[in-house]
Amino acid sequence: MRTTSALFAFLSSAAFFSASGATPLGSPLTKRYDNVRLQYDDPPDNLLCPPLPFREPIPVNAVSLSTSHWASGNNCRRTVNVTVGATTYSALAYAECATCDVNGLGILDPFWNKIVGDETDIYSITGDWIFTD
Ligand SMILES: *[C@@H]1O[C@H](CO)[C@@H](O)[C@H](O)[C@H]1NC(C)=O
Repeated sequence: MRTTSALFAFLSSAAFFSASGATPLGSPLTKRYDNVRLQYDDPPDNLLCPPLPFREPIPVNAVSLSTSHWASGNNCRRTVNVTVGATTYSALAYAECATCDVNGLGILDPFWNKIVGDETDIYSITGDWIFTD
């Protein structure tokens, strides 16, 4: 529980200092989504990227995109940076998140536990993300 409280305090202060909304960064055509909801996601098979014709490794840092950003699968396997607090992770869009906020992001296992640690009672945090490809 100590870890949970510390994490919440840390994330709250990080959220407090983040600008809200999407702001351009890097490429003028790439928007960064700041201070949005990142939620634990365990998508069913039918929401995963369509299988490739060859065997593919399951990405360690896998995220799921809101229906809007999923864009009928057009953003499948795009790369993203996910920033939580002071840490930025690179990740791969691997599924659609049917319950995510429009600019939110779903985080799959084991990436979720990499971010929140071993806590089992956290399902939603605040962070930033951006397409990097
Ligand atoms: C993604 O993260 C890496 C490592 O922190 C950084 O070098 C790169 O500039 C980031 N890309 C974008 C578009 O933010």
